[in-house]
Amino acid sequence: MPIFYDPQTKLFRLDTKTSSYAFMVYEENYLVHLYYGPRVTDQDLQPLMYRGWYDSLSPRNPQVSDPRFTLDVIPQECPGTSTGDFRISAAEARNAAGNTVTDLRYVGHSITPGKPALPGLPATFAQEGQAQTLEIEMADPLTGLKAFLLYTVFENHGAMARSVRFENAGGQPLDLERAYSLCLELPTMDYDMIHMYGRWAKENTVVRHPLQHGLQAIQSKRGMTSPNHNPFVALARQDSGEEYGQVIGVNLVYSGNFAMEIEVDTPGCPRLLAGINPSTFRWRLAPGESFQAPEAVMVFSEEGLGAMSRDFHKLYLDHLSRSQWTKKKRPILINDWEAAVFDFDDQLLVEFAQEAAKLGVEMLVMDDGWFGARNNDRAGLGDWQVNEQKLKGGLSHLIERVNAAGLKFGIWYEPEMVNPDSGLYRAHPDWIIQAPGRNKSLSRNQCVLDMTRQEVRDNIFQQMYDVISQNKIDYIKWDCNRHITEAGNAVLPPERQGEFFHRYVLGVYELMDRVTTAFPHILLENCSSGGARFDPGMLYYSPQIWTSDCTDPIERLTIQFGASLCYPPASMGAHVSASSRTGFATKGNVALMGSHGFELDPRKLTEEEKAIAKAQVADYHKYYDLTHYGDLYRLTDPAVDPFVCDWQFVSPDKKEVLFTRVVMRRPENLYQVRRLRGLDPEKVYVDEETGRKYSGALLMHAGLDLSQPWPGPADGSSVLKHFTAE
Ligand code: DGJ
Repeated sequence: MPIFYDPQTKLFRLDTKTSSYAFMVYEENYLVHLYYGPRVTDQDLQPLMYRGWYDSLSPRNPQVSDPRFTLDVIPQECPGTSTGDFRISAAEARNAAGNTVTDLRYVGHSITPGKPALPGLPATFAQEGQAQTLEIEMADPLTGLKAFLLYTVFENHGAMARSVRFENAGGQPLDLERAYSLCLELPTMDYDMIHMYGRWAKENTVVRHPLQHGLQAIQSKRGMTSPNHNPFVALARQDSGEEYGQVIGVNLVYSGNFAMEIEVDTPGCPRLLAGINPSTFRWRLAPGESFQAPEAVMVFSEEGLGAMSRDFHKLYLDHLSRSQWTKKKRPILINDWEAAVFDFDDQLLVEFAQEAAKLGVEMLVMDDGWFGARNNDRAGLGDWQVNEQKLKGGLSHLIERVNAAGLKFGIWYEPEMVNPDSGLYRAHPDWIIQAPGRNKSLSRNQCVLDMTRQEVRDNIFQQMYDVISQNKIDYIKWDCNRHITEAGNAVLPPERQGEFFHRYVLGVYELMDRVTTAFPHILLENCSSGGARFDPGMLYYSPQIWTSDCTDPIERLTIQFGASLCYPPASMGAHVSASSRTGFATKGNVALMGSHGFELDPRKLTEEEKAIAKAQVADYHKYYDLTHYGDLYRLTDPAVDPFVCDWQFVSPDKKEVLFTRVVMRRPENLYQVRRLRGLDPEKVYVDEETGRKYSGALLMHAGLDLSQPWPGPADGSSVLKHFTAE
């Protein structure tokens, strides 16, 4: 099994197929981090255990026999506060005396097969034999604060999950002010930090920059993950790239205020923390109470970012996304939003369904605007009753007609929100998030319901239940279109107001859990003004997430490539829409990288477009397994190469390959060759279109010739090539 403990040396070693992670219990029960990198043995680690750390100004614990031992520079697994370690701390509790000294020492450990669930939180899961879990108990003897560090090793995925449960085993209340999920220590700063920033309709812009001495961080204080920063960071050795070199990816399984901070100290050693953002967090732990921090996932790759991504993809498909639809073929859908916005009725939707059926589409999704007085974005949110002026004869009657056209039916919700102009708000104006005496900011004319409150969640659940249980609904799009301001809570006492943001996220998870448990057959697609809540927490409940409100295929390339750093292509909602100048065929080829759908008025397609749309539906089915469960290879970087964007899927048995090229701008050179990756060099691959045969070795080492005669490929054109092994 992958977790080893040597009682002689008190060394822990956690092995995956690609990595070893090691730490030890030092004198005075300090939990000292030793190593994270390519596989090593205990023997290899011996010299690390006795290396000296020293600085003349560094405080030291006189009980430790080695005079060079100082927490000032020592790497730790769960560094506390004000004990001589002056770097960013992973744990901090304000005690009854009012100070925040937090001194956690090792007490004991246990190793168990599988993985326990984290109460109230989404997290990776595993059965016995698929993973092994180490629980380390640490305690602060003065205050009684305990920290239980949970390490789960997914040996075959090159991945580890880490979380922390805090417990107040003392007799006085404690205020937890920092409760990070993961602390990762590295010995040198020759790493680049890679992360994704963005905004609405431009999510997942990947940036890469060298680590600097001092602090560097990404965060959200918006209540939700946000499009501004994704809770993902990779630390990549400076000589690493897409295919080569060492990379560590860290992703937080959380959908609220997060922080990922890296401090490089004076000697040049990076410390990375990932967890709940401490700047909007304070949690009162009464004696006997405990607090579960969310989980962080780490993947180590020695073969660059590409291998790291593929390990994340497999891990999330096998051990995070719990919906039955993760591994079950999903219907190809059409969504009415971009074509109709709020201006639709039952007749229009039936016509959409009938036209879409001719293309082979399998599900109609009725987006925003079907409920209450929702004719624009100024009213109706919170009133989840069918608007029968729009849907004449009611929802069941509409669904019957959509089903009669041969399509399943999906529906849109934004459960966390309310418009001031709504029945719900008029009945319960106190249910919104607000702070006494403060302005009530509006965003998209709406307020956020206080999801920490049981009666609020019960009301929304009941409203949803009434509609879903009485109608034949196969799919829900769960939207979330604003962030939280004036964060106050009417129920929590003042000393617990710091708990609000995390309690909000727990409330959302509870409601999502209730809906998906009550209706397990439903395919849930998360959304937040596009991809503003595209995170592993949401992936736990919904196997696909709407990637962006930008459906322009050229723009989508950087958005989808960014998301693919850690999220499986199968999880990316990707639609062919009418809103761009780029050719219809290319739109389909880009949508085929994710979970393909349509978002247009099918009645308005030309005959030529209809023929292409039918072919796209056929491609969706033909390549479903390859694009949903195959290995993704990013062959170019659309943010770097201005001309072409190439990627490739390879089936797990390497017998099938789908290569896609999108020409963003006509390349200046007509000679174009691309080396493919991940093939079997021994196999002979047949190009389905031309019948030409190539050995895998040739395609990988000499490349595929994509040259075209003058004037070369047009801007916005694309190439799709399918190879099968003989
Ligand atoms: C934002 C989403 O991203 C869109 O797809 C659409 O559902 C609108 N909200 C509806 O208000």
